[in-house]
Amino acid sequence: MARFTDNWLSELYSKNDIVDVVSEYTTLTERGGRYWGLCPFHSEKTPSFSVSRDKQLYYCFGCKGGGNVTNFIMKTENVTFPEAVERLAKRANMEMQEVLEDKQYKKITQKKKTIVSMNKIAAQLYYDTLHSPVGKEALSYLKRRGIDENSIKRFGLGFAPDDWSTVTDLLKKEGFKDEDIKDSGLVSVKNNNMFDTFRNRVMFPIINTFGDVIAFGGRVMDDSTPKYLNTKETAAFNKRRNLYGIDLIRKMKGIKGVVIVEGYMDVVSLSAHGVKAAVASLGTAFTRQQAMLIKRYTSDVFVAYDGDSAGQIATMKALDILSGEGLNVRVVQFADGEDPDDFIRKNELAGFAKKVKHSLTAIGYKLDVKKREFDMKTEDGREGYAIAAAKIIGSIDSPIKQERYIARIAEQTGYSEHALSQQIQGASADEKGTKKSRITSINKSRENIENVFLAFAMANPQYVVDVAHIIKIDDFSQKTHKNIFSVLYECIKRGVQPTYAELVSELETEEDTNEAARLAEIDTVASDPRGYMIDCANKMSRHVQESKRSKLLDQMQDATSEQRKKLLAEIGEIDKELRDKSGGVR
Ligand code: GTP
Ligand code: MN
Repeated sequence: MARFTDNWLSELYSKNDIVDVVSEYTTLTERGGRYWGLCPFHSEKTPSFSVSRDKQLYYCFGCKGGGNVTNFIMKTENVTFPEAVERLAKRANMEMQEVLEDKQYKKITQKKKTIVSMNKIAAQLYYDTLHSPVGKEALSYLKRRGIDENSIKRFGLGFAPDDWSTVTDLLKKEGFKDEDIKDSGLVSVKNNNMFDTFRNRVMFPIINTFGDVIAFGGRVMDDSTPKYLNTKETAAFNKRRNLYGIDLIRKMKGIKGVVIVEGYMDVVSLSAHGVKAAVASLGTAFTRQQAMLIKRYTSDVFVAYDGDSAGQIATMKALDILSGEGLNVRVVQFADGEDPDDFIRKNELAGFAKKVKHSLTAIGYKLDVKKREFDMKTEDGREGYAIAAAKIIGSIDSPIKQERYIARIAEQTGYSEHALSQQIQGASADEKGTKKSRITSINKSRENIENVFLAFAMANPQYVVDVAHIIKIDDFSQKTHKNIFSVLYECIKRGVQPTYAELVSELETEEDTNEAARLAEIDTVASDPRGYMIDCANKMSRHVQESKRSKLLDQMQDATSEQRKKLLAEIGEIDKELRDKSGGVR
C-alpha cells in the first residue's frame, strides 16, 4: 500500500492534527490529557470515544474501533485509503504526491472522473428523452405506477430510447475516446461494434454521496427479461459500497431513520408517497459497507423487504449485518407476495406509518419466523418452538431485555417463565462451552504478554531490532498481532522509526487498525523499556513452546505406540529448548 512516500505521509500527518480533524465531526472535551467525545460510529449517551494528541490516534472504548486520522476519514466518509489521503491533502493545502508505483491509482481516478462525466451526459439525455415524444409510453408507465413529476425530478428518472446508437453517438460527438466509452458500461461491444447498453428501458440513475452519477439501473416496461439491467462494475461503480437513494439521504436534515427496501421502484414509490428516507441495495445482498454508509446518517434502520420467502432470507442476513454494525434495527413485514411499493399504493402514508409503528425488533422477528416452522396447535409443536425460542433469546446479553420475550413465549407455548429461563440458561451455557483445557489457559497469559509487548514495541520502535532474534512473526497468536509486528519490523528495516500514526497507516485491514489503536491505549511506562521488551519476547517464545508441548501431550492420548514414540521425541526437543532458555532452572 506504499502509494505515498514515508516523508510525504509524515508531512500529511503533521499538517492534519487528529484532534482538529475529529473536532470537525464531533465535539471533543479535554480531560486527563486526552480528548473525549461521543463516538461518531455508534450511538451513545456518554462519551467513550477518545483521541490522543501525542499518539495522533483515536480509539473508541465502546465499539472498539480505532486508528489514525486517515482511518477516521475512511470510516466517517466511507472512502478508500487514497481517497482519504486526498481529502486530508486538500485540507492541508498540500499537493497530492505523485509516486511512481502510483500510476495505476492515478489511472483509475482519471477513469472514474471520465466515466462520471459520461454518465452525467447520459442521465441528462435519458431525462430529456422521457419528456420528449419518444418517451411518452415510459412517462405514462411511471404515472400509472403512481410516480409523479416531482419524484421523477427528485430521482432524475429517464428513458433510454429504443435505439442502438443514441448514447454511443452522443458520447463520441462529445469527444470521449472509444476506450473510455466502452469502459463506462453505457455502451457494449459485440464483434467490434459499439452499441447502447440500455435500450427501451426506464432509467434509474445511481448517485453516490458526492452527487456523482456512478451507474444506472434500467427497467423494461413489460414482462420481458431481464427485468433490470444494471451498469457493470466500472472504475466509478462498486455495487457493494453504494446504495440507491443515498444521495437524497445525505441532503436531508434530521432524519429519524432509514427504510431499507429491495427494489429501486420501492425507493421511488415510498418517496412519492412521503417516505423520503429510503434506500435499496444495488441488486446484491445487503453488505457491511452499506451498513456503514447508512450509519453516517442515522443509527435507526427499518428493514422493509418483500413479503416472500426470498425477502425473509434476505431480511435475516441484513439483520445480522446491521446489528453487527451497531445499528438499531427493526423489521417491517408485508404479506406474502407484497412489497413496500404495493403496500403504500394501497394504504398510503398513514398505513405505512402504522406498519413502521408495529415493526418488530430483530429478536422479535427471528422468533416470529421460527414460530412458523412449528404447528403450534400440537403439544410437540409448542415444545419444539419453546426450545428453539430459548436459543434465540439466549443470544441477548441483557437478562432484563430477555424478560419481555420470555413472557411472550410463555404465553404462546404454555410453558412457565421459570422453565423457559432455565432452558435459556442451559442453552447459553452450551453455546459458550465449558471445556477449559490447559491450552486455553496458556493462550490466555500468552495473549496478555503479547498485548503488552506490542504496546511497548509501538512506543519504542528503536528497540525492535533487539528482540527480532528472539521472536518470530509466527510466535504471535493472533493474525492482527502478526501483521502489526511485521509492519513494525518492515519499517525498522527501511530505516524508519514510525510514529503511532505512521505505523497504523501501513496496516492493511480495519481489524489490524482497530487492534493497533487498542494496543496504543496500554500503559507503557517502564524504567528500562528495552530490557522489559526483551523479557516479554523471551516469555512469549517460551509460551509458544509450552503450548506446542501441551498440544503434543493431548495428542498422546489417542496415539498408537508408534506415534507416541515420535511425540515423546518432539516433547523432549521442546523440553531441551525450554531448559536452555531458562538457563537450566527448569
Ligand atoms: P418492480 O417489479 O418494478 O416493482 O421493481 P422493483 O424495483 O421492486 O424490483 P424487484 O423487487 O423485482 O427486485 C429488487 C431489485 O433487485 C431491483 O431493484 C434490482 O436492483 C434487482 N433486480 C431485480 N430483477 C433483476 C434482474 O433481472 N437483473 C438484475 N441485474 N437485477 C435485478
Ligand atoms: Mn416492486
